[in-house]
Amino acid sequence: MKEDRGHFASKLGVVLASAGSAVGLGNIWRFPTETGKNGGAAFILIYLIFVLFLALPVMVSEFVVGRHSRANTVEAYRKLAPGTPWFVVGIIGVLSGFLVLSFYSVVAGWTLDYTFLSITGALSGSHDFGEVFNCFVTHPYRPLLFLLMFLFITHVIVARGVESGIEKFSKMMMPLLLFIIILLVVLSVTMPGAGEGLTFLLQPDFGKVTPKVVFSAMGQAFFSLSVGIGCLVTYSSYFNKQTRLVSSAMNVCLIDTMVAILAGFIIFPTVFSVGVHPDAGPGLVFVTLPNVFNMAFKDAMWLGDIFSILFYLLLLLAAITSSISMHEISTAYIREHFHVSRRRATWIVTACCIVLGVCCSLSFGPWRDVLIFGMGFFDLFDFLTAKFFMPLGGIGICLFVGWKMKKQDVYDELSNWGLHSVPLYGVLMFFIRFVAPACITLVFLNELLGIGGS
Ligand code: PHE
Repeated sequence: MKEDRGHFASKLGVVLASAGSAVGLGNIWRFPTETGKNGGAAFILIYLIFVLFLALPVMVSEFVVGRHSRANTVEAYRKLAPGTPWFVVGIIGVLSGFLVLSFYSVVAGWTLDYTFLSITGALSGSHDFGEVFNCFVTHPYRPLLFLLMFLFITHVIVARGVESGIEKFSKMMMPLLLFIIILLVVLSVTMPGAGEGLTFLLQPDFGKVTPKVVFSAMGQAFFSLSVGIGCLVTYSSYFNKQTRLVSSAMNVCLIDTMVAILAGFIIFPTVFSVGVHPDAGPGLVFVTLPNVFNMAFKDAMWLGDIFSILFYLLLLLAAITSSISMHEISTAYIREHFHVSRRRATWIVTACCIVLGVCCSLSFGPWRDVLIFGMGFFDLFDFLTAKFFMPLGGIGICLFVGWKMKKQDVYDELSNWGLHSVPLYGVLMFFIRFVAPACITLVFLNELLGIGGS
């Protein structure tokens, strides 16, 4: 008997699941890191412009392709443009799904470990947290255990299916996530000396804007909104006919941006409050923050512990709602293409990601010297997806909707078959056809040629 493809049951489920995909390590770990490295408020302003003018049109395009085809991201192109090579855009997405999930799970595994460490109190008191982090990531099997645990959690949710797995989990977790974030913001901005962090976040210094800052902001918008690799094509294939695509995309962008900015409000006031430099890089979350929590709450250790448990829990939940969406790209494809059950498809994807994830994890420790094109597995997968496949896929999706699909089909999707008008339809199509592909090409060339450095 043919299994039902599944669908999201409610409007809220649609927005929360898509926002769950977008909100992840990209917002809470990468955004503050990039903001710190790129000078603060001016970077954020440019990022916001790119979210609105670049990522939003790509997201709408993905939604159009997904719902119109009601198929996984490869089949979608096959259905809508039979006999043409457009399906390659989908293949890029499926491949990227595997690769992103593999290296993402490594960082998510660290997060899981830090959640445990903070619950057991191992992060309280003063330690050399750089050393703690280094020992952990280079340990021969400890990070592997957490990687496996994380992938297993993702697996269980995806195996339960679209409505009772993905939608239910996202609906429960996203409000909890928002609640934890707000609590942390309140704690953070009321710390002594937090003002400097707020200035850093809110007062743009345009003197700091270099081409590299502009390109980094564009790349961040891309990664953070999960656009370009068919993730949202897959999710939108589960949308119902009533879902309004443009307003859903706007809501997702709004939630994602809000979370990123709030993450900035959690991290920078505390970082400045204890005199740590904001451009500490990727270690900001795993090395600097445990320090920050301890120093900031010297006289009330328990408060520091609570702060740190909540923070890593938040990071973990956000990572799970994103990882299930990466998993689903490939699961949906394998299930529908090879006509296997969801359970089996889920196992195939998880098994492949375990193998690839183990390679990524070991590239920090025993396999440090195993290099392909001069990069370890982790860096290679990160490079191939974020800097190569995602921009390439984004260009493909925009060109497909802007130039290949029938105009009437696109309009029907956007207007819910004429049920309502589409405000700024002409402008939106202009962005999908011209502006977004051109901008993405710039990011792509920048990343590929390393013009602005990375
Ligand atoms: N947007 C997610 C984040 O911010 C990452 C992601 C990329 C999710 C690609 C799905 C697909 O963490």
